[in-house]
Amino acid sequence: MIGIVRSFAGGINVNTIKALERSSVVIQEAKNYACRTPGVLLINCDLVEYPSVWEYAMSLEIRPNPYGNHLSAEVRGIDLAHTLDPETIRTIHDAWVDYKVLIFVDQHISDAQQVEFTRRFGALEEFPMKAVRSDAHNEIFRVSNVDTQGQHLPAEHNTVRYLHVTQKWHIDSSYREIPSKGAVFRGIELTRHGGETWFCDLEQVYEDLPAAMRKRVDPLRAVHDFEVSRRAVGNLTPLSAEEKAAVPVVEHPLVRVHPVSGRRSLFLSPVHMSHIVGMSIADSSMLLGELIDLAVQDKYLYKHRWWPGDVLMWDNRSLMHWAQPFDEGVLRRVMHRTTLAGERIASAGP
Ligand code: OGA
Ligand code: MN
Repeated sequence: MIGIVRSFAGGINVNTIKALERSSVVIQEAKNYACRTPGVLLINCDLVEYPSVWEYAMSLEIRPNPYGNHLSAEVRGIDLAHTLDPETIRTIHDAWVDYKVLIFVDQHISDAQQVEFTRRFGALEEFPMKAVRSDAHNEIFRVSNVDTQGQHLPAEHNTVRYLHVTQKWHIDSSYREIPSKGAVFRGIELTRHGGETWFCDLEQVYEDLPAAMRKRVDPLRAVHDFEVSRRAVGNLTPLSAEEKAAVPVVEHPLVRVHPVSGRRSLFLSPVHMSHIVGMSIADSSMLLGELIDLAVQDKYLYKHRWWPGDVLMWDNRSLMHWAQPFDEGVLRRVMHRTTLAGERIASAGP
């Protein structure tokens, strides 16, 4: 029997999941939320109890999420706290390029272990604003409304307001001359409502563009500017001269070629982009608006609902993403990001 359950008002516990598994019920509200147990999609329900019914893989297992859009895969059977052998790192690397978002489930790692794991894939960036870097590990960008002493910060606090940049579609570090190739992102304190992370597959978006549009956008370049995104969230503490010097205004191709897969994608980072080179602001806004509207259709998205122990690894060369807002005055959210430095962007243009 296949049943469809739309949403749970009062929460769902492990026994409920077991019963659902036995009856092959599919909980389905929005198809592309996380799949956590075979045949059961846990969607938009208040699932907060630790899910002991998860299967524990004994060896590395990469399970694509079954949404049909080939975006995201769950990784089980490894412990990121340990040094992984080169073969495992290679397998993870290839799956990361292929599925774009990897979800490592049930990981309990420290900041130092997160840094170590991330380093296996390349050099790390440091976030340009000192205020949101961890003091103990400069490579950790704290995406958090809680300070390092555990104090819940007021919504008007500078670092909390900066979080609003991550709540708009973007590609990490697109404002750098050499943008980031990916990030490892660890949930530490999670929100029960809001705070999901959504990803958009910009390779598929590009592939589906009408031929005439592809021809139009292939040669274009766009200006990216860290200050554009800071202005978008209002009145932040000005950058120091040193911080400013690290992020000069840059230009990038609008269509890029992935250095590993060779696939083309839109290099679309709306919150950091100011305009397309050589176009009036009005024409540029119109074209970017059109591309963004095409991109953010549900069929191109994976929406990650956070579970305790989740560590994500995403590819900034083929995706854009954003965080969903949450009630910052009431809820605490602590996430730590490590960021992989990338390579100069290869253009698809002539
Ligand atoms: C980021 C980011 C998403 C989130 O840190 O770059 O986009 O869910 N975070 O907080
Ligand atoms: Mn981001």
